[in-house]
Amino acid sequence: MLYSVDSTNNEVKRRAEAGAGQGLLVIGEQQTAGRGRRGRAWESPKGDGIFMSLLLKPDIAPGHASMLTLAMGMAVRDALDALGVPDVQIKWPNDIICSGKKVCGILTEMSAQVDYINYIVVGVGINVHNRDFPAEVEHMATSVFLQTGKQICRAQLAAECMLRFEQYYKVFLQTEDMSGLLDIYQSHLVNCGRQVRVLDLKKEFTGVARGINADGELLVETEDGLRSVSAGEVSVRGVYGYV
Ligand code: BTN
Repeated sequence: MLYSVDSTNNEVKRRAEAGAGQGLLVIGEQQTAGRGRRGRAWESPKGDGIFMSLLLKPDIAPGHASMLTLAMGMAVRDALDALGVPDVQIKWPNDIICSGKKVCGILTEMSAQVDYINYIVVGVGINVHNRDFPAEVEHMATSVFLQTGKQICRAQLAAECMLRFEQYYKVFLQTEDMSGLLDIYQSHLVNCGRQVRVLDLKKEFTGVARGINADGELLVETEDGLRSVSAGEVSVRGVYGYV
C-alpha cells in the first residue's frame, strides 16, 4: 500500500520491469495521475476510493488478455454485492454499474511480444466513500456510500475482489476464454437486450446487445445481422444515455 503514487498501473509496470512476479498487488491511497481508458484521467483523491493494480503473467496468447478485464469485472461485481451494495451489474467491457451509474472502472494494460505476454496489469478504480462528483460526471457516476449510505471497509472490499478474481482467473485459464464464465457473466450484463451505440475511432453503429461470446466479444444485433465487437478501444453507450 502506497500513500501517494502517480498511477498504480504505472507502479506495477515499473516493478514488473524490475522483476516482480505474478500476484503483486499495488494499492494507492491516492493517485496523482490516475488513468482511465481512452486516454482519460481517473480522479483519485485521497481517502475516497480504491485504486489498485494487479500483476499477472499468464501463459496465454496476447489476443486473449482483454478477457481478464471481464473476469475482474465479475469479481468486483460479486464483491460489491457481497458487501450489500444493491443492483450491481456489469456494463461491457469494463464498467461496474449500480442503479445505472458507474461505481468502478477497470483498465487492463499489457507488455507483450507478438506471441508472448511479458506481463499484464489489471487496474481497478472503485468509488467508495465519495459523497459527490464533479458536475461533468455527476449524471453517470456513483459510489458505494451513495448507494448504501454506509462507510464500508475499503481493505475488506479490496480483499473480497481479489479472492473472487482468483477463482474466476483459474476457470479462465482452463480454456483461455470466457466459455466457463459465460453464463454468470451474462446474468449480470446490464447491456443485454438494450439498444446500444458502439463507437470506435472510425465508425459508429447501433443495435441491440444480445450478450457476449466465448471470446468475450459483445454480440450486437444490427439491421445487417449479428456483429461481434471486441473490447479494444471501443465505447458502448446506451442510445438514450450512459447505460
Ligand atoms: C475507466 O473506466 O476508464 C478505467 C479506470 C481505471 C482506474 C484505475 S484506478 C487504479 C488503476 N490505476 C490507474 O491509473 N488506473 C486504474
